[in-house]
Amino acid sequence: MSRVQNAAVASVRTVLGLVPARWLPGGTPDELINRQVEIGRPTPRLDGPLKAQGRAPFVTETAMDGQCHAALVHSTVTRGRITRLDTRAAESSPGVLLVITYRNMPRLDIVPMLAGLNLNAPGNSGLPIMQDPEVRYNGQAVAVVLAETPEQAEHAASLVEIDYAPRTAATVFEDAKAGARTLPSLLVEKNHVTVGDAERELRRADHRVDNIYRTPGHHHNAIELHGVTAAWDGDSLLVHDSTQMIAPTASGLATLFGVRREQVRVVSPFIGGGFGGKGLWDHQIIAVAAARMIGRPVRLRLTREGVYRIIGGRTPSEQRMALGADAQGRFASVIHTGYSVMPLYGTCPEPYTLGSRSIYASRSFEFLQRHLDLDIVPNTFMRTPGETIGSFALESAVDELAHEMDLDPVELRLRNIPERHPISGQEFSQHGLRQALTDGAERFGWTRREPKPGTVRDGEWLRGLGCAAGSFPYARMPGGSVRLTLRRDGTAEVSCSAQEMGMGVATVQTQHTADRLGLSLEQVTFTLGDSALATATSAAGSSQTATIAGAVSAAADKLRAELVRLAGRDSPVAGRTVRLAGGGLSDVDDPARHDGYREILARAGRDELTVTASGPPPLEFLRFSMHSSAAVFCEVRVSAVTGEVRVDRLLGSFDCGTVLNPVTAAGQLRGGMIMGLGVALTEETLFDARSGRIMNPSLADYHIPAHLDVPQIDVIWTGIPDPRSPLGARGLGELGTAGVAAAIANAVFNATGTRVRDLPITLDKLL
Ligand code: MOS
Repeated sequence: MSRVQNAAVASVRTVLGLVPARWLPGGTPDELINRQVEIGRPTPRLDGPLKAQGRAPFVTETAMDGQCHAALVHSTVTRGRITRLDTRAAESSPGVLLVITYRNMPRLDIVPMLAGLNLNAPGNSGLPIMQDPEVRYNGQAVAVVLAETPEQAEHAASLVEIDYAPRTAATVFEDAKAGARTLPSLLVEKNHVTVGDAERELRRADHRVDNIYRTPGHHHNAIELHGVTAAWDGDSLLVHDSTQMIAPTASGLATLFGVRREQVRVVSPFIGGGFGGKGLWDHQIIAVAAARMIGRPVRLRLTREGVYRIIGGRTPSEQRMALGADAQGRFASVIHTGYSVMPLYGTCPEPYTLGSRSIYASRSFEFLQRHLDLDIVPNTFMRTPGETIGSFALESAVDELAHEMDLDPVELRLRNIPERHPISGQEFSQHGLRQALTDGAERFGWTRREPKPGTVRDGEWLRGLGCAAGSFPYARMPGGSVRLTLRRDGTAEVSCSAQEMGMGVATVQTQHTADRLGLSLEQVTFTLGDSALATATSAAGSSQTATIAGAVSAAADKLRAELVRLAGRDSPVAGRTVRLAGGGLSDVDDPARHDGYREILARAGRDELTVTASGPPPLEFLRFSMHSSAAVFCEVRVSAVTGEVRVDRLLGSFDCGTVLNPVTAAGQLRGGMIMGLGVALTEETLFDARSGRIMNPSLADYHIPAHLDVPQIDVIWTGIPDPRSPLGARGLGELGTAGVAAAIANAVFNATGTRVRDLPITLDKLL
């Protein structure tokens, strides 16, 4: 996150631009792009029956012998010092085993903090955890009670008496703007980027819009609450955790508690949603420390309120979005700047300007984000970080410019699709925004849109259509590995410490491995969810599928080399160029020549053959510009009487490379779009400006879309493979959310003539 890093990334890009593409990962397209059998089939989730029958073990369903239960006490002031602490009533409450506060908590360092370049560092907060009497934000954990049952622990937690000497705290977004910081970089990208003189181009442009867009904080509401069970056996630690970072959590806990990485095992076979919120937070560290102190397994499951108190969400933002265009509607200026929160002890810079850097061409650009240091639980990554709220500003502004120019908003977008990355000049690996927009417009019936706002009325209801584009970058993480075992009966097992948060990871990688090895689906098993397995990377940034695919592909290459060696000179394919196909080694030039896995292993007297491999370093996305695109269309109706907004139709048209499994892909994309719908209409974390306390920490007060809020969602895709990625696929977990809030806001404008630049679009803003 430094100037040095900016320079390093820039020079790697320059060097990679000079080397021939065929030397790089992705330089030669994956041969499976054109040889799909199981890939691309709508295979139902292989773990579906387990989940339907309640046999998929989630963290808090996995009991350990002798476990006790923990409940947290949260601070009720923002900044301050604990002046009186009385735990006697809690300690004498029935079933209570131990009360831990800063007084008896073991001394611990700061957890290694999540960072762009250290993938083993999982921490989301750089604050000390119950190490001193200081309180840094409202809701921080200040004590934990251990008891025989969860109810006893919760009750006793309510009996802990604490007085505070409060200090002045920064809790108001507006007030903190004067002291905003400017970071050199946003993850791996430079923060302040200018091309030409964007302000001057804006002033001179034939058409321009220049507005401020505001988005509120959002909170994580995974269906499964955060939970952990920790047990020590001597210096060995076993942790059942609901986490999207299995291996980094094991590394982080080992560092923090002074044991070797191999002594820590993190198990997490099923996760009921993560979305960026299931990293390493205070509760896991408190549970591990408590288990060591009490000498028993400790389970700590957060309450829904507890998730709001100690797990960060998405920052609020205030974004300036200015667009200038010439008379033909070609962009002359794109300016996207603004403010969001990132405390000094946080890690997530919420990169809302990144999407605006890649999606449209323009003569000039300026991007700059400033960060506010508020005294709150550190904000973190949340589904489609950056793009969710950045695309609201950009794509609302495109709609406003189209309106001001009296031009169709789809047409305005089509006129500005770049041939190469508009800032770096890099070649796109594959880029189908144009097709996503035109396919989506046709399927949706976009030509039926009445351009003049507020003119279509159906009784009480004003009707409108809106659209928006979106994008999300491709990512493949360095270092993720898999272990691949081929058995004498011709079956294969792949395993790694991947995370199953509901996406269908095992299903898709089983399909992949079957095709990679030329086996049937039934001959392959894929095991995940345990840090004792080969080290996989976190499930983050929509990278997991491509990362594992790269590793499976590398393992298959290794396996082929081993098999050739084992097959020996008596093999029918000896001396030939072979690929893995049809359950064995197959002559590339003469597929009739074949040597089966079973035969090879039998001749060699081997029961099995095992290889472990990681994919090559992910240089493809530094060499090429790799982005997926979305085009979102929607129809809304707005009550002229109450201002109520109903979304009647929603369509997502996506360009995301090969779709590996239409069932799981559509599920991911629909889920992302529903989150976008919540961002547009209902979701908002409410802070009390006086106390910095979150005032709506429950599903009754923080409104996520419920079934009746969600219309039928139509999902289509171009299906064009990306020649630079494993399997031709780009991640799509987060793509679905990009652009949705703007599409809905634009439809509301088309229906009513009211432009809402301040999310969520609640009815008071339309009356
Ligand atoms: Mo995601 S916000 O990287 O789970």
